[in-house]
Amino acid sequence: MQFDAGWVRTVLPERRIEWFPTIDSTMREASLLAAAGSPSGTMVGAEEQTAGVGRYGRAWHSECGTGLYVSIVLRNRLVAGDLPLMTLALGLATSEAIAKTTDLACDLRWPNDVLIQSKKCAGILTQLEGSAIIAGIGINVNQSSFPEKLDEIATSLRLMSGRLHSREQLLVELAASVDSFSALLEKEGSEAILAMFSRASSFVYGRRVAVDQGDSVLRGTTAGLNASGFLILDGDDGRQNVILAGGVRPCS
Ligand code: BTN
Repeated sequence: MQFDAGWVRTVLPERRIEWFPTIDSTMREASLLAAAGSPSGTMVGAEEQTAGVGRYGRAWHSECGTGLYVSIVLRNRLVAGDLPLMTLALGLATSEAIAKTTDLACDLRWPNDVLIQSKKCAGILTQLEGSAIIAGIGINVNQSSFPEKLDEIATSLRLMSGRLHSREQLLVELAASVDSFSALLEKEGSEAILAMFSRASSFVYGRRVAVDQGDSVLRGTTAGLNASGFLILDGDDGRQNVILAGGVRPCS
């Protein structure tokens, strides 16, 4: 069913909401709007993205009419160094919005993957545009299948619950959750977000993982988050590593 942006605008009358039938990437459009001074909370969404962007320049599969592909302009007192914490806060917000809309419980894989039963149902991308943060959130909502290369690792809320979900209701919940976790980070600082993420994620403590680091792979056991939101890994080589970036996957 086509996304009813008009209904969302009536529920969120204060917000600027730009909705496109098709777009290359909502990140690009939201960055343009932010550069032009669009207010905090501005949301750019699309029925489909022809060049959806994931982390590390990967593509984000954006099938038409089934997922939620949205970029939100956030203006707050956070700075570039807070982006890793903001990514964690957005994961918590996305997980909360999914739970409120669908009753599905999510796991969070550091730094930005939202999982259900070990498969990815949503991803977060953050970037700066001047002093604004652009929060890109992609949620697999009503997909009934995925291309073969994603089939093993991706899922949708529909596949996990056996029913269709309202993308409009999910967006309304997401807007509220993003506001509340972003305000929490701004007002309370990092500790609240670090504690909540550590509770919500099965990956933060005591998890055997492999971390892809370009040409090499680090293996070890996770040992918490540091104050900046980076993952601490007790390496199998006896060294402790702070993981700044890199795909984390479970290993034996
Ligand atoms: C990831 O897990 O790699 C991050 C995926 C982020 C995808 C979203 S969909 C809306 C926004 N527009 C994009 O092009 N990317 C983000």
